[in-house]
Amino acid sequence: MEYDVIMIGSGPGGYTGAIRCAQLGLKTAIIEKYPALGGTCLNVGCIPSKALLDSSEHYYNAAHSFAEHGIKLADLQVDLAQMIKRKQEVVDATTKGINFLMKKNKIDEIHGVGSFVDPHTIKITKEDGSEQTIKGKNIIIATGSKPLSFPSMPIDKKRVITSTEALKLTEIPKHLIVIGAGVIGAELGSVYARLGAKVSFVEFADSMIPTMDKTLGKELQKVVKKLGADFYFSHKVTKVENTGDEVVVSVDTPKGEQITLTGDYCLVSVGRRPYTDGLNLEAAGVKVDNRGRVEVDNHLRTNVPHIYALGDVIRGAMLAHKAEEEGTFIAETIVGQKPHIHYRLIPGVVYTWPEVASVGLTEEEVKQEGLPYKVGSFPFKALGRARASMDIDGLVKVLAHKETDEILGVHMIGARAADMIAEAVTAMEFRASAEDVTRMSHAHPTYTEAFKEACLAATDNRAINM
Ligand code: FAD
Ligand code: NAI
Repeated sequence: MEYDVIMIGSGPGGYTGAIRCAQLGLKTAIIEKYPALGGTCLNVGCIPSKALLDSSEHYYNAAHSFAEHGIKLADLQVDLAQMIKRKQEVVDATTKGINFLMKKNKIDEIHGVGSFVDPHTIKITKEDGSEQTIKGKNIIIATGSKPLSFPSMPIDKKRVITSTEALKLTEIPKHLIVIGAGVIGAELGSVYARLGAKVSFVEFADSMIPTMDKTLGKELQKVVKKLGADFYFSHKVTKVENTGDEVVVSVDTPKGEQITLTGDYCLVSVGRRPYTDGLNLEAAGVKVDNRGRVEVDNHLRTNVPHIYALGDVIRGAMLAHKAEEEGTFIAETIVGQKPHIHYRLIPGVVYTWPEVASVGLTEEEVKQEGLPYKVGSFPFKALGRARASMDIDGLVKVLAHKETDEILGVHMIGARAADMIAEAVTAMEFRASAEDVTRMSHAHPTYTEAFKEACLAATDNRAINM
């Protein structure tokens, strides 16, 4: 065989796994169908969305809170073209960094669509139509996901768009209708609401980010409402139509009435689907499940033992850091190590402002599992640091086992929650009790004190500053 490992796909799962394979002495090739490495996350996902979230938040603060800080601005304007250009520069610099890492680790980078010829052979069809065939002892499927859409809401990429187009609009929508108030809806809806668009969320479930702890959805709704957004919860979209200059969205209300919403753009953010198009999995005999996900066992092996899969194309959360863990896991498994991933402790973050972050069981899950539990929560408005920076929205909620005090879940919405959740992950990885966290010194004044205070609240209601 020419290669010990062939990685198909260069997203965070693919490139991280390829690097770990190379570090472990495996001769590795990585195949990517697009000219740029980095997959969804670096090109049209995590990185560009965070660049626009940061830029739009700067604008929003300049327009709405600088005056209170004692900073006067005149003639403030949004330069959307520059905002999108900067976003692209961040993306380009980041993806070039991956090219550098491939070279540094002596990983062969091949661009083109990879497809199975047989269980050990991959054909790569390049942009110019030429073909190359390579053989590998082990093959890793890391082909990620694509936006989901339904026949009732056909994506035309002009007015009815996915996150990919929403990251490169040439004008600020007047009225953006967002179908699905999940993670993408919340993040990209916030971007355009901050820049002045009217944003309406139409959501099947009864809250924003409905899969997270219910408290977070309620709190997030309050802050997004301040941006002027409207919410249509428990509403069902029946039709989306681009009429030229407008998009008309037909919706069934919970009472069974029919209403229409008219906007200039409609963002369809109803989830993502695993992507295996063109892989020719049949030639290798690799099975997919009834949702199109490549089936894997606990070692991330498919039904063909030397073929593995990871990230968005398999079961579990569609998150970059989950895919990265799995890339490392497979590399270490191939060389005979015994790696471990604690799936319950993979944090989830929504990069609105304030940020939303969560790890472990939600209160709804704790109840479902019938665990005896107690809750401690602490509001950001009681924190000195939050008052100093004017970031008083949000709270930290800690769920701990009623008898053992072990932390079962931590759910936060507040300034820098995305970074703060790492402390909760560490604590839970070491099976800390809420009491353990209260015994650790937290620098003052910091946002992290909210976590300590919530842990104090969870242990005999001992929060100090509330
Ligand atoms: P991907 O990143 O999807 O990469 C798969 C790669 O495989 C692609 O480059 C694709 O071109 C390539 N490929 C597919 N088929 C073939 C083939 N046959 N031959 C060759 N190459 C092929 N997650 C977070 O954790 N944090 C965030 O902040 C975050 N923000 C996001 C924002 C948006 C707008 C979106 C859409 C997603 C976001 N995500 C975020 C999710 C994150 O992007 C994904 O979970 C992550 O990219 C999955 O990584 P992956 O390696 O499984 O696949
Ligand atoms: P999502 O699963 O987060 O949200 C989709 C929402 O659409 C859900 O609330 C669902 O109830 C709703 N929905 C589904 N069908 C609907 C319909 N017909 N009408 C109205 N509402 C409907 O999916 P989203 O936001 O598209 O994101 C896809 C994936 O990308 C997520 O799994 C997420 O993990 C990942 N992602 C992660 C980010 C992060 O980590 N910060 C940022 C963006 C995306």
